[in-house]
Amino acid sequence: MRGVILAGGKGTRLFPLTKITNKHLLPVYDAPMIYYPIQTLVNAGIRDILIVAGGNYAGDFLQLLGNGRQFGLTSLNYTYQEGDGGIADALALAEHFADGDKICVILGDNIIELGIDAAVSEFHKQESGARILLKEVHDPERFGVAEVRGGHVVNIQEKPKLPRSNYAVTGIYMYDASVFAKIRTLDPSSRGELEITDVNNAYIQEGSLRFSYLDGWWTDAGTFDSLLRASSLVSQSKHKDA
Ligand code: DAU
Repeated sequence: MRGVILAGGKGTRLFPLTKITNKHLLPVYDAPMIYYPIQTLVNAGIRDILIVAGGNYAGDFLQLLGNGRQFGLTSLNYTYQEGDGGIADALALAEHFADGDKICVILGDNIIELGIDAAVSEFHKQESGARILLKEVHDPERFGVAEVRGGHVVNIQEKPKLPRSNYAVTGIYMYDASVFAKIRTLDPSSRGELEITDVNNAYIQEGSLRFSYLDGWWTDAGTFDSLLRASSLVSQSKHKDA
């Protein structure tokens, strides 16, 4: 399976920090943010990775990561998202790289404590469709929220005012090759973006979306509060392990 890291968008919620660097290059405790999703994929045995960069200072990814040898990657590829048309818009750029294979997609600002190996091997066994990872949170209105009934996700709402559950859809998604055809059918949402939630709902409609629960802590790092939280969670984990 190949890995795709989505690191486009403009990072406007972290302005002015993102006026002088790319959001995904900001420090999270002792490493640039982008190191964490790379390591998550590597730990799950994924060694062929595409980074979809965007916004300002995208050239700095190359300077920081080079050919990915420091992570033991077989191949590290880059592309560039023009504008900030949404997560699904960024993912559309991965079609050529995926080349008909299944992919594991992770958002460039998602940081986790443990691994995703179990979900990845479940997805290997899945003939087709998609698999998402859910995490119980206290502030579901900030995320895509999954309604689970009878062991299935029956609906996902993007940042609902009145969430139907406390299960956030994390920014880790596994897809078969039909994801690109699904993206082509999407219309921009009210915030002007192609939404990954609409992609996942298309799989639900088709009856082919499965899910796993994510163990350990999970956070995004796209706001001042979550960026701070990410640094302190990583710091606590490192001191615990030391
Ligand atoms: O973190 C998980 C959440 O991420 C999910 O629960 C939501 O369903 C999903 O929509 C997303 O929500 P956010 O509003 O937090 O996404 P944000 O706009 O902050 O973008 C997260 C990352 O996605 C960003 O660091 C890079 C990538 N991205 C985003 C946009 C808007 C792109 O590559 N291109 C884009 O145009």
